[in-house]
Amino acid sequence: MSTEANQGQPNAHPSTKSEMEGPVLRPHIFDGIQEYDQRLPNWWLWTLYIAIIWTFISWIWEFQLSRPLNMATTDHQRVDTEVAAVKKQQADNMLKILNTLDDSRFWAMSQDKELIARGQMTFDTICAACHAKDMSATMPGGVKLPGLPLNDKEWQYGAKPMDIFKVVSKGSPDASKGMIAWEPQFGGVKVAEVVAYILSTHQRGDGDIAQ
Ligand code: HEC
Repeated sequence: MSTEANQGQPNAHPSTKSEMEGPVLRPHIFDGIQEYDQRLPNWWLWTLYIAIIWTFISWIWEFQLSRPLNMATTDHQRVDTEVAAVKKQQADNMLKILNTLDDSRFWAMSQDKELIARGQMTFDTICAACHAKDMSATMPGGVKLPGLPLNDKEWQYGAKPMDIFKVVSKGSPDASKGMIAWEPQFGGVKVAEVVAYILSTHQRGDGDIAQ
């Protein structure tokens, strides 16, 4: 929007430093816009210089030294170390819990409503496929399922709570039978919960389940 006289023409009277104090106007006009010819402020220039220097230093460090020569731990390595530490902590906690397990602890757990509710959830979703929800290992139509009944008083691999815990966590000694080790699948705590649930359907001192 400049005056018609100036349109497309170099400024007839360009201001120069000698002529006036203050910013110098550059001679050209584009789309009616004129530019000042000003020196960039020092703070701006130094920000640029330092950014350039910093980029160079960090390029040397990151790509010439630290990565090729393994001089610093990468984010990946740091995450791996953290994850390993958390896993170890979890395994230690698990061991602590599992080390305190014994037959009478299991009977106590079988009275814990919340705990056996969690155990039942695991049982109904996973174990029931072979042992049936009512633990009879039989379908309503009378069809036999592959698992052994868990609601009777016969225990092929021992009648103590710890024996049951062992067969569920480690699986059947005869792998070909189809009862796999469940501990690697969902951890010792869940196995303990599901065993407590099985026990909750029996009486302590009832029949074959030993005290
Ligand atoms: C794929 C089928 C299948 C699934 C799923 C399965 N089992 Fe079994 N289970 C079996 C078979 C088969 C046996 C008998 C193994 C043998 O005779 O060696 C068995 C045996 C057992 C026994 C030993 C019974 C005894 O008389 O000593 C227990 C306890 C048991 N299962 C609990 C579980 C629990 C708890 C789950 C769920 C976490 C589960 N099973 C999931 C097939 C299965």
